[in-house]
Amino acid sequence: MAKPIKILVTGGLGYIGSHTVVELQQAGYEVVIIDDCSNASEAVLEGIAAITGKPPHFERFDLREKKKVIDFFNRHPDIKGTIHFAASKAVGESVEKPLLYYENNLGSLVYLLQQLTGRGRRSFIFSSSCTVYGQADALPITEGAPVKPAESPYGNTKQIGEEIIGDTCRVHPELQAISLRYFNPIGAHPSNMIGELPMGIPQNLVPFITQTAAGLRKELSVFGDDYPTPDGTCIRDYIYVVDLARAHVVALQRLLEEGNQENYEVFNIGTGTGTSVLEVIHSFERVSGKALNYQIVGRRPGDVTQAYADTSKANKTLGWKATTALDQAIKTAWDWEQKIRAL
Ligand code: UD1
Repeated sequence: MAKPIKILVTGGLGYIGSHTVVELQQAGYEVVIIDDCSNASEAVLEGIAAITGKPPHFERFDLREKKKVIDFFNRHPDIKGTIHFAASKAVGESVEKPLLYYENNLGSLVYLLQQLTGRGRRSFIFSSSCTVYGQADALPITEGAPVKPAESPYGNTKQIGEEIIGDTCRVHPELQAISLRYFNPIGAHPSNMIGELPMGIPQNLVPFITQTAAGLRKELSVFGDDYPTPDGTCIRDYIYVVDLARAHVVALQRLLEEGNQENYEVFNIGTGTGTSVLEVIHSFERVSGKALNYQIVGRRPGDVTQAYADTSKANKTLGWKATTALDQAIKTAWDWEQKIRAL
């Protein structure tokens, strides 16, 4: 039997990272996780093992420790691909602590790329975000839409991160890279063994909804109903986390098998459908059978009115498409919330 291909997943204990590790292991890859557990729990390893029958190899350290990064690659010269999730992601915190975000999100990226160049062909996938588009001038958003000035240091780290990768690929043809620009990931694994574990008060809509329904929060604040949209609330593209995780597997396969001609490509990863905040609430109420306590409040600074993806590039080039309906995804988020509250 051929030896499995070894893939490094940084931030592999986090929300999207852990779901991707599951899909990778189920596709036959051997996974090594690096995570500093600053926003994740080692217990996630048990969930991954319960789903896949195999605990991934795990090393706990901070990627800002350059010597440890070098040592890691010296010990694992056979890593063929890296999927880089590890990063800080709280928009508000990034405004308060910009240098922490620049150091953490960009320092780690630079150290990884230094190890992935000059060692023969290597594949690299970067977790980017639709936040790079800001309020796009045209909808749905294609990859050709201009990158707008970032609204926060967090958003800026995604833009600069993409530029760092692009600049590096230009002079290192042995590096094959893809940035995946995620829209809004939601839901939990259908096994109910892994899911989102927000620390503190959730900033994102779906975990705030499920925590409110579970009694942890008094009510959901809906940030504005006076936007120029059909029901006045903002529109986003909510993608089921397992569909998103699978996009990483097909992107990796593309890099490992064929390579991309330009050696650096970006793809939107969303469903292509825009959904309003009220529509998400109604979906939750449908699948849970519970009325949600919510109140309309003022707009949240920095929110864009509408963002949803044109996914045709990913559909055609990667042969990938999101298939899970909103209600189904929200149902998994609710199942997961109830499970973690009962623990
Ligand atoms: C947010 C970040 C974005 C980041 C993404 C990661 C901001 C301004 N943007 O995107 O940079 O890449 O998370 O997932 O923080 N909403 C409420 N009440 C809530 C929470 C959210 O009404 O308590 C609304 C928001 O106004 C928005 C929608 O729900 O219209 C989705 O919000 P959220 O989950 O925070 O995602 P984004 O704003 O798209």
